[in-house]
Amino acid sequence: MNKKMNPLEYANELTEHWSPRIISNVDDYYIKVARLKGEITWHQHKNEDELFLILKGALTIELENESVILNEGDMYVVQKGVLHNPVAKEECLVLLFEKNSTEHTGEIKHEKSRSHHEQLRVLDLKNNLNSSQKL
Ligand code: NI
Repeated sequence: MNKKMNPLEYANELTEHWSPRIISNVDDYYIKVARLKGEITWHQHKNEDELFLILKGALTIELENESVILNEGDMYVVQKGVLHNPVAKEECLVLLFEKNSTEHTGEIKHEKSRSHHEQLRVLDLKNNLNSSQKL
């Protein structure tokens, strides 16, 4: 989207946990924001890397042999094929950058898994009437 955007403002509008929303794209990559609390499920993305950038709060990404603790401003790229389990002990807001083919929880179908269709629902900013335009 060719307009100035503040990802944190969009993330602040989110009301559901573990329901990423697409706010823009860079070629075939989506930029998403999500509000996280607790955990979702261990999963992997066979063919895609997944970038997490912490906008607010802190997130632990559990990997098979270690846990990576990310604080505000930190980012981490989970490499393709690596099992991971993001855990938010306290609520946090994140930006995700990933290929448009990336499924929320990989091949795992979890009750919290969100489809691309759900993630593409327009996220309106309360104080910005222009934000309702589609990508
Ligand atoms: Ni993932």
